[in-house]
Amino acid sequence: SQDVQADLKHVLFTKEQIQTRVAELAAQIDADYQDRDVLLVGVLKGAVMVMADLSRALHSHVTMDWMAVSSYGSGTQSSGVVRILKDLETDLMGKHVLIVEDIIDSGLTLSWLRANLMSRGPASVEICTLLRKPDAAKVEIDVKYVGYEIPNEFVVGYGLDFAEKYRNLDFIGTLAPHIYE
Ligand code: PRP
Ligand code: MN
Ligand code: MG
Repeated sequence: SQDVQADLKHVLFTKEQIQTRVAELAAQIDADYQDRDVLLVGVLKGAVMVMADLSRALHSHVTMDWMAVSSYGSGTQSSGVVRILKDLETDLMGKHVLIVEDIIDSGLTLSWLRANLMSRGPASVEICTLLRKPDAAKVEIDVKYVGYEIPNEFVVGYGLDFAEKYRNLDFIGTLAPHIYE
C-alpha cells in the first residue's frame, strides 16, 4: 500500500505532545471530579483514540459509553441537523457526564449533542475535546477541557479522518492540498 506520509503537509502534534497534553487534561479532570464518578461519553468514530488514552490517564473511577451521530444536509459541511446512529446504553439520570470529542469544528454536532444529553436528566454535562478550531465556530459552546486550539486547516490522524482514512496515525497532521482538492 502507499506511504501515508506522502499525503501529509506537516505534523501539527507529535505522539509525545499528544500524550503529554492528554495527561494534563486527565489531571484536571481527576481534580475536578474527586468525589463524583464520571461517565465518559465518546462520540464515534473520531473520539476513539482520545477516549482510549484519556481514560487510561485518569485515576478516578470512570465508566464509558459511546454514541454515533451523523450530521446530514446538503454538501460536506456539518448542517447542525443531527441524527443518532447509535445511542447510549446508559441511563443518564443523575450521572455526571463528560463528553469526549476529538475536535470541535463548527460546534454544531456538540451543541446539538449537549442539549440532547442534558434533556435526559444528568447531574451535569461537560465537554472535553482534544482540538478546537475557534475560527470555524458557528455556535459558541462552553467547553471545559480543550487540548489545543488550532487554525482552520484540514487535520487528520489520532482518530481524525478524511474519507475514513488516516484515523490510525499516532500523530496529528495537516493534509496536503492535493489530497482534498
Ligand atoms: C467530526 C469530528 C466531530 C465533528 C465536529 O466527526 O469527529 O465529531 O465532526 O464537527 P462540527 O463541530 O462541525 O459539528 P464526523 O461527523 O466527521 O464523524 P467521525 O467522528 O466518525 O469522523
Ligand atoms: Mn466525530
Ligand atoms: Mg469525520
